[in-house]
Amino acid sequence: MKKVLVTGGLGYIGSHTVVVLQQAGYEVYIIDDLSNTQISVLDKIQEITTIKPNFTQLDLKDAPLVKEYFKGHKFDGVIHFAASKAVGESVLEPLKYYENNINTLVNVLSNMQEQNLSNFIFSSSCTVYGQADELPITESAPIKTAESPYGNTKQIGEEIIRETCQAKELKSIALRYFNPIGAHESAKIGELPLGVPQNLIPFVCQTAAGIRKELSVFGSDYPTPDGTAIRDYIHVVDLAKAHLAALERLLANKNESKFELFNLGTGKGSSVLEIIQRFESVNDLKLNYKIVERRAGDITSAYADTNKANKVLGWEAEESLDSALKSAWDWQKNQ
Ligand code: UD1
Repeated sequence: MKKVLVTGGLGYIGSHTVVVLQQAGYEVYIIDDLSNTQISVLDKIQEITTIKPNFTQLDLKDAPLVKEYFKGHKFDGVIHFAASKAVGESVLEPLKYYENNINTLVNVLSNMQEQNLSNFIFSSSCTVYGQADELPITESAPIKTAESPYGNTKQIGEEIIRETCQAKELKSIALRYFNPIGAHESAKIGELPLGVPQNLIPFVCQTAAGIRKELSVFGSDYPTPDGTAIRDYIHVVDLAKAHLAALERLLANKNESKFELFNLGTGKGSSVLEIIQRFESVNDLKLNYKIVERRAGDITSAYADTNKANKVLGWEAEESLDSALKSAWDWQKNQ
């Protein structure tokens, strides 16, 4: 059995990926500091897969402990999710983001180097493109100056990995996620936002559940057909499957260069109003919402050109937007 380390494996995307990996026959080791999730996710993963993954609560900034951890294992691959991801918080606490997202990355890569481990998957983001000049966005679109420290950590992270791949025995795939949404069909795992959700779908779900009074739609004067901003919303289970595809590509030495990048999206853009309308329709409910001012830092439109992921990685999003929105609501009802 191949051994895979998943950092941040109890988080939103991490937990769905652990399920996919275990179902594909991998032995999964999770490191998580539980800063943005709950330990109960471990039991939920076991309920879904019947296998309890190996789990260690560990802060990846703690270099001596991380070193000790790596010495005790020989991983065939490492999938690195552990990071902070709140854009607004990153503007207020930039150093927290450089510590949590950059120092930890350097720690993980150093230990991989020391243990001669070479297969590394990195969580990147479409945020590296900013407002792209051309849509859909291909992987060769220029990287724009980051709008936030969070976005900057993804750009810098990719650079660190690219340079390490050039200099050392590291092979890596960075996956640039568009907007992950939805939950596992069992409704046992999903997104667990701390406090007031910043992202659209968790806010929509909490509004539908009566936890929030009203959803604010940020801006209706964008140059889009209905005036609201457009994103590429991708089902988290599809995203999880892409990690398996990327890992297997590296394990089979099928990568064409030592550092590869792939967009992960559906290729289809949806506006905020379209999301509200689909959510209401597929879940047969009414959402309370109002139009407010634009949110600072938001871009008009982003959706992926998925050709490279489809043809080279051999992966394609399979779930529909409706099934993602239904699973998000099923998960919310289960809370
Ligand atoms: C942001 C980050 C992205 C990060 C992702 C998940 C940027 C440019 N994007 O994406 O890097 O990976 O969060 O953490 O930094 N909206 C509302 N009302 C709400 C919430 C959102 O109208 O209450 C709108 C937003 O204006 C936007 C769309 O819904 O048009 C999606 O917003 P959100 O879910 O926050 O994702 P992004 O901002 O696209």
